Amino acid sequence: MMYSEKVMDHFMNPRNVGEIEDASGVGTVGNAKCGDIMKIFLKIEDGVVLDAKFKTFGCGAAVATSSMATELIKGKTIKEALEITNKAVMEALDGLPPIKVHCSCLAEEALHAALWDYAEKNGIVIEGLEKPVNDISEHEHLPEEDY
Ligand code: FES
Repeated sequence: MMYSEKVMDHFMNPRNVGEIEDASGVGTVGNAKCGDIMKIFLKIEDGVVLDAKFKTFGCGAAVATSSMATELIKGKTIKEALEITNKAVMEALDGLPPIKVHCSCLAEEALHAALWDYAEKNGIVIEGLEKPVNDISEHEHLPEEDY
């Protein structure tokens, strides 16, 4: 299996590892099939994501995608943050092997879960944001063979 230099870099030197104590939103998402768990913390003020941190118990690609996802979301408005799909994360990492695509889905879902938590805490609705799942392996749109 070949990983891009960027994936290797974000795996070996992950950015934004840790927790935000007074986080505006926290999202935890797992994948029951591989057993990996990702937790993302966001600090949001005036509709802008000021800081993002993560804790990931998972494979190298899950670490690299959480590192990149937290990098991408920093400084973004909530609306822009919704555009950080698993595809955008993969593109920013110069791609992932097909068998590792689902790891990037974990990153997208964890970002969404943190945004959802933020919205709930503040009694607001984020347009275009669907209620995230706790276990992404329940997503039917992910083909079996990706695991
Ligand atoms: Fe589970 Fe990568 S193998 S997230």
